[in-house]
Amino acid sequence: MQHEKFSGTDHLYMQVAQGLEKMISDEVLLIGDKLPSVRVLSEENGISMGTAFQAYYHLEAKGLIESRPKSGYYVRFNHRKYPALPKMVPADALSHEVSVKEMIASLYSDIASAKVINFALAVPDLSLLPVGKIQKSAVHALKHTKDHCIGYEHTQGNPELRKQIARLCFNWGGKTKPDEVVITNGCLEAITLCLQAVTQHGDTVAVESPCYFGIYQAIENLGLKVVEISSDPVTGADLACLEKTIARFPIKACVCIPNFNNPVGSCIPDENKKQLVALITKHNIPLIEDDIYGELYFGKNRPRTCKYYDTKGLVMHCSSLSKSLTPGYRVGWAIPGKFIDEVKQVKRIHNISSASLTQATMAHFLQHGRYEYHLKNLRKALHTQSLRYIQAVIDHFPPDSKVSRPQGGFVLWIELNRKVDTFRLRTEAMKHHISIMPGRIFSVSPNYSNCIRLSFGKPFNSDMEYGIMMLGKLIKKMV
Ligand SMILES: Cc1ncc(COP(=O)(O)O)c(C=O)c1O
Repeated sequence: MQHEKFSGTDHLYMQVAQGLEKMISDEVLLIGDKLPSVRVLSEENGISMGTAFQAYYHLEAKGLIESRPKSGYYVRFNHRKYPALPKMVPADALSHEVSVKEMIASLYSDIASAKVINFALAVPDLSLLPVGKIQKSAVHALKHTKDHCIGYEHTQGNPELRKQIARLCFNWGGKTKPDEVVITNGCLEAITLCLQAVTQHGDTVAVESPCYFGIYQAIENLGLKVVEISSDPVTGADLACLEKTIARFPIKACVCIPNFNNPVGSCIPDENKKQLVALITKHNIPLIEDDIYGELYFGKNRPRTCKYYDTKGLVMHCSSLSKSLTPGYRVGWAIPGKFIDEVKQVKRIHNISSASLTQATMAHFLQHGRYEYHLKNLRKALHTQSLRYIQAVIDHFPPDSKVSRPQGGFVLWIELNRKVDTFRLRTEAMKHHISIMPGRIFSVSPNYSNCIRLSFGKPFNSDMEYGIMMLGKLIKKMV
C-alpha cells in the first residue's frame, strides 16, 4: 500500500481536487488543457491511484473537467465565468412566404476570401481532414474501377458506397439496407429531393427555428410556405409547439436538425425524438431529418436519430460527408423510408445521378475503416476548439452576451444585447476582414437580429483570438 502524503480530516481526494479547482479558477490550467494522467497525479501527490481517480471523478461531476475516451482528462470549464445560455424565442405561429435568397447572396459575395478571418463558413479546416488518405482512395478509384469512373453512375448511387452508408447507420442503431439509400450531391440536395418528393408548390412545411439558412433557400425555391417551430437551445424542437402547429395548419412535412442543430447546437434528447416520431406518425406527416452533424459528438456516445424510432417509413433521413470528410466532393445521401421511389424519381429528373469518381473514392475510403479512425481525431480536435473559442468569447465579448454550449458540431450561437443589429455588425466586421453569420438569416422572422453564428471549424490560434477580440470591441461600440 502506497504511503499517502496528505493528512488531516478532509478526504484526500477532496484536497487534491480543490488544488486542481483553484488552478482552473486562477487560469493556471486553461479550458482544453490536458490534465496529468491518473498515474502521474498519484505519483506527484503521493496518493493512491484510487484516490487520484476519485479526485478526477469529483471534478468531472462538477463539470469542470471531462474524460475523453482513450485520451485522459481535460479542463472543461471555469464555471464561475461561464455566460448564460441564449433564450428560446417563441415562434410567431404564422405561415410565411419565404424570401431569403437575396439576403443570403449578399453575404456570400466576399465571405471566403483568403484575407478574411473566417468565422462564417461552417466547414472543418483542411488541416483536420485526412487529405493524403483521401488522395490514395481517389487514385485507387481511378485505377481500379471498371470504366475508370468515366461512365454514369446508377441513379440510386454506387452500390459499394450504399453498403458503406448502411454500415455507418449501425452507429445510431440503424438497420438500414443498401437498397434503402439514395446517394445525392450533398445533404442539401438530399433535403431538397425529400421536400420535392412529399410536397407541391404552395404547400406548408413546419421548420425548427432557428434553422440552417440553406433549408430556407430550398423551401423558397420550391415555392413552399413555412411555419416555424420554437426550439430550445439545449433540447431542440418544442414538441408542444409542433403539436399546436399541426392542429392549426395543413402541414405537409416537418424539417428538423435533431443532432447539434446549425446554428444553435441543440440536441433533441433521444426520448423526445421518440415522442417527435410518435407525433408525426399519429398525423401521418413525413419528417425530414437533417443529421449532418450526428457523427461529430463530443460526449461518449453518438446520439440516436429520429429514423431509429421510425416504424412506418415516415422519417426521411438526410446526411453527407461534407462536415466530416470531404465538403467539396458533394457526397451525401437520403434514406427516405416509404418515399424512396419518389426520391429516386426526382433525383433522376434533377440530375440523373451523382458523380462516379467521388462516390467510388468515398466507397474505398469507408470500406478500409479509415473513417472511424479519422472521426475519433476530428471529434477530439473540435471539442477542444469549441472550448477555446468559448473562452475567447468570454474574455472579449460584453458580459451580457449569451453563449450556446454545443455538445457536437462546430458552430457557436451567441445572443448579444438587443441594441446590436448583427447585420450591421457583420458589415463593420468585414471592414476589418472578419466574417460572421448574422442571426437574421436563420429564420423567416426578425427574431434573431441580435444573434450571430460563429464557426469554430478552424483550429484556435492568434488570428482567431484577434478576430474575436475585434468583434468584442465592435459590439461594445454598438451598445
Ligand atoms: C445543417 C446543415 N445541413 C445541410 C448542410 C449542407 O450540406 P452539404 O454541403 O452536404 O449539402 C449544411 C451546411 O452547412 C448544414 O449546416
